[in-house]
Amino acid sequence: MDFDIVIHDGEIATTEGTAKGCIGIKDGRIAAVAETIPGGARRIDAGGRIVMPGGIETHAHIAQESSSGVMTADDYLSGSISAAFGGNSSFIPFAAQQRGQSVDDVIATYDARGARSVIDYSYHLIISDPTEKVLHDELPRAFARGITSFKVFMTYDLMNIGDRGMLDILTVARDHGAITMVHAENNDMVKWMNARLADRGLTAPRYHAISRPELAEEEAINRAVQLAKLADASLFIVHVSTAGGAEIVRREQFNGAKLYAETCPQYLSLTRDDLDRPGMEGAKYICSPPLRDAGTQEALWHHIRMGTFVGVNSDHAPYRADATGKFLNGAEAPYPKISNGMPGIQLRLPWLFSEGVLKGRITLEQFVGLGSTNAARVFGCTTKGRIAPGMDADIAIWNPDTRYTVTVADQHDNMDYTPLEGAELTGRPEIVMTRGAVIVENGVLKATEGQGRFFGRAPVDDRARPGAPVKEFDPGQNFGTELR
Ligand code: URP
Ligand code: ZN
Ligand code: ZN
Repeated sequence: MDFDIVIHDGEIATTEGTAKGCIGIKDGRIAAVAETIPGGARRIDAGGRIVMPGGIETHAHIAQESSSGVMTADDYLSGSISAAFGGNSSFIPFAAQQRGQSVDDVIATYDARGARSVIDYSYHLIISDPTEKVLHDELPRAFARGITSFKVFMTYDLMNIGDRGMLDILTVARDHGAITMVHAENNDMVKWMNARLADRGLTAPRYHAISRPELAEEEAINRAVQLAKLADASLFIVHVSTAGGAEIVRREQFNGAKLYAETCPQYLSLTRDDLDRPGMEGAKYICSPPLRDAGTQEALWHHIRMGTFVGVNSDHAPYRADATGKFLNGAEAPYPKISNGMPGIQLRLPWLFSEGVLKGRITLEQFVGLGSTNAARVFGCTTKGRIAPGMDADIAIWNPDTRYTVTVADQHDNMDYTPLEGAELTGRPEIVMTRGAVIVENGVLKATEGQGRFFGRAPVDDRARPGAPVKEFDPGQNFGTELR
């Protein structure tokens, strides 16, 4: 075959293992994987470097208004460029419904925003207003378009849809083979803590961590899982930040819940002490759920190793440390009025490789799974996340030896800080491809605006799995009634 590109002499890494080999690419797809492949209009010498499926970032807020209406610093151009420099060939940011807005309008809005992306993209739909029309008319249309995941919030007054709303969404999702993602924190526990702290005048950034107790996450994760079990629906818990939350996930997976979860680099690398930096510096570290402590980090690494989490995603939520972002409500704003979130899309994979693989916490195979392959499986990206004939040629060639110090100047997002400033890392991608096009090569952007394409996704079909038994739905135990 006449290949457009042949990558030769790579150490091809998959979730199954690594092997020396070559990849032949034709028309944007992987056409051959073999020990040797001759020819190719262009030959790329991997020189023994790691060749892996390009990352799939599945938790990023790009060109999105926050729960309180603040626009992120990154649009689909800067966000996707930053993702590409971090080894990602595709991403799935959120398309957020504001209350009263139709889902059709949300999708049209994000289609216009997404058109600038340099990498392939899809959306998870955030639902804040599950009206009858949304549930039974608009969501099915979104599914038909290949938007097979959406997210709900159990916190934030403007987003929280309550347990009943969650049950409605979980049920519609189950019927269509979609997966529901959830930000799990108990809203009233947080508001109660906020009031106690405000009464005492405790509003510095460090109190953000106190205001959102570990118990608030653990209670909400547990509740979300029970709701999903009742609806027999698939559930994905985003940004798990507590040992207790991870333990609940683990236990309920064992019990048959159709349950997936992720954590994020910030919960493994930073602690609540970072919120206590001098002046308002701590505002840069405000995110929800909040940063925890060193003991939690160890527990989360343990759960990563054991397979509790299918992904480590960035939760890239970029708000600059100025009046457009963190300090929109004033330079001395109390913590509840400071935008939640921090950047990290470019450093997700390099950080996980350096701290995870090179420090012996996870294997290279797990790294590939956590960064790409598992995301493709869970979110229905049927042509992405694997190195195999027929798949999109979404590939990252990784130099495992490059040592460098993280600095904001090297980030390609629109941010004025990185929470990992000064970190010493080893290993980073040198070449990144999306559908066979080289988009980053040795620190230089090769892509043009709008080169990325929207991709629809397959249903996340857990319906054949037995799930967790709910006695009251069993006609044999409920006086013979068909209730499902
Ligand atoms: O603090 C965060 N994570 N902000 C982004 C929105 C969300 O809650 O995921
Ligand atoms: Zn969240
Ligand atoms: Zn988020």
